[in-house]
Amino acid sequence: SAAWLRYAPVPGASNYRSLPSAIVALNSSTSSPVFVASQELQKGVKGILGKQLSLANGTNKASSSIIVGTADAYKEAYGNFDEADELEDDGYFLSTKGKNVMIIGQNPRGALYGAFEYLSRLGQGKFSPVSYVSNPHAPIRWVNEWNNMDGSIERGYAGLSFFFRNGLVVENVTRAAEYARILASLGINGIIINNVNANATLLSTRNIDGIGRIADAMRPYGVQVGISLNFASPQTFGGLSTFDPLNPAVDAWWANITDQIYKRVPDMAGYLVKANSEGQPGPLTYNRTLADGANMFARAAKPHRGVVMFRAFVYDNHINESNWKNDRANAAVEFFKDLDGKFDENVVVQIKFGPIDFQVREPPSPLFSTLRNTSTAVELQVQPEYLGQNCHLVYLAPQWKEILEFDMRADNKGSKVKDIISGERFKRPLGGSAGVVNVGTNATWLGHHLSMSNLYAYGQLAWDPSQEPDEILQDWIRLTFGFDRHVMNTIVDMSMKSWPAYENYSGNLGIQTLTDILYTHFGPNPATQDGNGWGQWTRADGFSVGMDRTAKNGTGNAGQYAPAIAQMFENIDTTPDNLLLWFHHVNYTHPLKSGKTVIQHFYDAHYEGAATAQTFVPMWEALKGKIDDQRFNEVLFRQVFQAGHSLVWRDAISRFYHNKSGIADRHNRVDNY
Ligand code: GCU
Repeated sequence: SAAWLRYAPVPGASNYRSLPSAIVALNSSTSSPVFVASQELQKGVKGILGKQLSLANGTNKASSSIIVGTADAYKEAYGNFDEADELEDDGYFLSTKGKNVMIIGQNPRGALYGAFEYLSRLGQGKFSPVSYVSNPHAPIRWVNEWNNMDGSIERGYAGLSFFFRNGLVVENVTRAAEYARILASLGINGIIINNVNANATLLSTRNIDGIGRIADAMRPYGVQVGISLNFASPQTFGGLSTFDPLNPAVDAWWANITDQIYKRVPDMAGYLVKANSEGQPGPLTYNRTLADGANMFARAAKPHRGVVMFRAFVYDNHINESNWKNDRANAAVEFFKDLDGKFDENVVVQIKFGPIDFQVREPPSPLFSTLRNTSTAVELQVQPEYLGQNCHLVYLAPQWKEILEFDMRADNKGSKVKDIISGERFKRPLGGSAGVVNVGTNATWLGHHLSMSNLYAYGQLAWDPSQEPDEILQDWIRLTFGFDRHVMNTIVDMSMKSWPAYENYSGNLGIQTLTDILYTHFGPNPATQDGNGWGQWTRADGFSVGMDRTAKNGTGNAGQYAPAIAQMFENIDTTPDNLLLWFHHVNYTHPLKSGKTVIQHFYDAHYEGAATAQTFVPMWEALKGKIDDQRFNEVLFRQVFQAGHSLVWRDAISRFYHNKSGIADRHNRVDNY
């Protein structure tokens, strides 16, 4: 579907008269984002305002026009303008104040971003004259798509891949272009098209041409394609006897294959590498450092100006729970701290937002404040793997916002995560964000109409993290569903309640999500957390629960943060309740700041969360007739499922801890199995 790019008619639009009659594109090459912008403007204005604008190339100085192009092209045709100096890479200037509408990008895709912004304003009925420069918060605003060569998608919940089938890149790249359009409307400038658990057959000559096909389809939207690499490729695919990153033959092999890819895709974004994690090969196999591994790709990509995103998600998944000090959450800092400053300039360390794995609540990864001489990016999951897999509505922007705004207090100075990843705090040349989206062939893109707010919000926050989650949501609703107040209030209300509700009926107080962690990552299964090497432990026994991550008695994880934060988490009294069990091991009877005990909080939260999910059904039902039947029914189906599944969650989790602790619920709601 067209997502938020429906260009639906806006009520009251007939009052909007101050519209030029022509669009002037300052670049007529059909593969330029400037040209795409002019076409998009024509289509959008027609849809939203019912007015057919003519499309002119070159200058049209007589009548008033919507002028779209780069700053350089504008200056050449019309002369200088004051705001030109304020433009940064990918930024744009939008002005609707003068005779002409000016949509001027610092570069071609900046012009396209400005056009989408203008259309978004029109589409929301925001007609008042404006004039402003908008620059992106960070240079890297990418999505990651975990697509496999056979056409499946790892942790994808919306159909099959539209990039690959039967080991090959597909012939028809229409949907890739449609997706690029959606991404461009959010200012997203890069996409990794294949799974981080990468398959080396993507590097075959035929598939390199296929990558070129996808890149050709996405290029007009300013979206640069990149790929995930399998570290062992020189051996498993190239026929060498080794994949040791310090072996010159291996180095040469990567340089050669990189040259081949860039020959077909001269503007390729770069590489993403998952190494020495969850069974993936990597440099540690040869006693080389992770930096040795990353820099090998960096050297190959550098002549082409490619970037290497090297994942910090490196940990041992066979750790022993009987050692109280073992902790998977320590892994990233342990693996990376001594490598700070040893990565080449075009390497970016891509860090999952929390120390474990996209749980319902985690503190920010301590690695953000550990790496000072290394560019970093935050990895977020737009498709909520542990959070209901788009069978539940969970609007994630509030969670991301908490992470981005978290002040890590590096050197006791303001060090918000958002300013670390932008490169600003530690004066790094690169950085930004990567969102795992995993869209598929399903017409809804993500499987749930309402989950598209997550993709929208991801792009908005990557561009400008100062925005508020509820305001982003309102924009998205106007563009997606129109202007009905009741529709607006309902979707805002449900969405803003959805993350707290999910946290309530899944894992509370920072214990992690408590979903099945061994196979599906779906549905309640608290017993799977402990007794295995994955390290997502809760250490729940008959009396007590939680991970002791203090430096004093525990795993030392709290000590990985900068002193002010370390102190806060080290001390049970200053640890916020919602992270209590992340950092501390306490009795079930431990009193929270709210005055409740841990166990009673578990019971109450589960009943509250599930009760909230029940209300989503009648709330949605009341919108019948105000939303087209198809979307109405498809959402209702998911809401009913969520309501039912929240009861399953509620009962499974409360009974599990009731059985363990033997402590009765004060309100006598919880029985044994
Ligand atoms: C999670 C996810 C895996 C994925 C891994 C990763 O554990 O369940 O499917 O491969 O993260 O991000 O590498």
